Amino acid sequence: MSLAPIGEPRHKFTTATLREKKILHEPITCLTTYDYATARLVDEAGIDIALVGDSLAMTMLGYENTLSVTVDEMLHHVRAVRRGVKHALLIADMPYGSYHATSEEAIHNAARFVKEAGAEAVKIEGGEKRVEVIRRVIDAEIPVAGHIGLTPQSVNVMGGYKVQGKTLNAIEQLMRDAVALDRAGVCCIVLEGIPREVAAMITAEVETPTIGIGAGPDCDGQVLVFHDLVNLTFGHPAKFVRRYGDVAALITQSVLAFKADVLSHQFPSDAESYHLPKETQAALETVLHRKQAMRR
Ligand code: KIV
Repeated sequence: MSLAPIGEPRHKFTTATLREKKILHEPITCLTTYDYATARLVDEAGIDIALVGDSLAMTMLGYENTLSVTVDEMLHHVRAVRRGVKHALLIADMPYGSYHATSEEAIHNAARFVKEAGAEAVKIEGGEKRVEVIRRVIDAEIPVAGHIGLTPQSVNVMGGYKVQGKTLNAIEQLMRDAVALDRAGVCCIVLEGIPREVAAMITAEVETPTIGIGAGPDCDGQVLVFHDLVNLTFGHPAKFVRRYGDVAALITQSVLAFKADVLSHQFPSDAESYHLPKETQAALETVLHRKQAMRR
């Protein structure tokens, strides 16, 4: 399987395509996306997976971390992305608290992402300790993406956003987590914030495709947060982020130019204005002349 060159029709990317890509050693591309416009751009650029990550809590909604975003807020964004994505696999993040209490609640919330917003899979953070719930969601015919390593929903337990898997015990636990998710049948495993050596070992060990973020180059695919990629995050980027563009600079430049043009009466020009039809203009002038004549 190979990607269609630009301009040629593309096939729909599915959970089955994910597996094929791992077998064929073709890198999987994934970006977060949270709205219609960027979803279209990401999809039309041929990215394999559009992930509506709960990172939207910070990037789109300005929250301090991912913990407070709700299922309803996530659904709003997944629906918008659904309208913009045709080919990419659409994965929705299950937010904190939406799968932690009972499997029934997890299935109910996961099904909302599928039925109400058109998601094709959901992502659930956690390894061994979440495997039961993940199995139940998969049994309900909803593909699940796993996510282990630095799991941002555990920020308070981890005591900050710290690279995970740095001791032998931690590596063993990560390996058990990955194998448990692999056996449970997840469609992919996001490996976040772990040493590249550990990500390479996990990727070699499991049949499930791994998608890395801050996990080095040996994963089966790579994901970045869209706002990090284009510099829309207002902070110092993490070590693993590569900025491919400076949208913040472009937006600031455009906004300042608009402001300057309005203040100096340069915008809008006559060419950017609507005009009356000739007959209406002539009739209007006649009326105005008559009014002026009457006033004299
Ligand atoms: O929420 C998110 O953006 C994510 C990615 C970092 C994988 O989970």
